[in-house]
Amino acid sequence: MPTYRLGNDLDLDAVLACYRACSLGGRRPIDDRARMATMLAHANLVISAWSGTELVGIARALTDGVYCTYLSDLAVDDRHQRSGIGRELIRRCREHAPQATLILLSAPQAVDYYPRIGFTRHDSAWMIKPGDPLV
Ligand SMILES: CC(C)(COP(=O)(O)OP(=O)(O)OC[C@H]1O[C@@H](n2cnc3c(N)ncnc32)[C@H](O)[C@@H]1OP(=O)(O)O)[C@@H](O)C(=O)NCCC(=O)NCCS
Repeated sequence: MPTYRLGNDLDLDAVLACYRACSLGGRRPIDDRARMATMLAHANLVISAWSGTELVGIARALTDGVYCTYLSDLAVDDRHQRSGIGRELIRRCREHAPQATLILLSAPQAVDYYPRIGFTRHDSAWMIKPGDPLV
């Protein structure tokens, strides 16, 4: 059974290894250590899943604690997927801020996952990327 920890005081290499061990590694700047370190340091809701001493799952989120939680990264090591870790990481994020709505952008590989576990699609979500002009 995995164990879970709350907090972002994690070894960066262990975090990077977890991202690399699943497809999210291809969608985050994992070769830019400084940027990843900042992403970890400034996330104020981080929950990790452990198999013994190995970090095998992570939820990295930003929350105001009472209204909204943005779940930026959810990653479970390929070898440990489909054993309930992703769902438990999300459950704990919600438990930490029970009044907050959890919001995320799905990776293409996970578009069928979120509706399966109870998420609803929002038809009026919008984003603007860095460098895109504000007109
Ligand atoms: C998507 C991801 C986080 C799911 O975590 P997980 O621990 O493997 O999933 P869980 O074990 O919590 O699965 C819960 C349920 O969803 C199902 N499920 C898991 N992955 C699924 C997927 N990609 N599509 C549809 N259903 C999925 C499981 O079979 C399980 O169903 P059950 O309740 O009938 O047994 C994990 O596969 C992952 O890290 N993928 C690569 C990175 C990624 O895409 N992250 C999401 C970024 S937005």
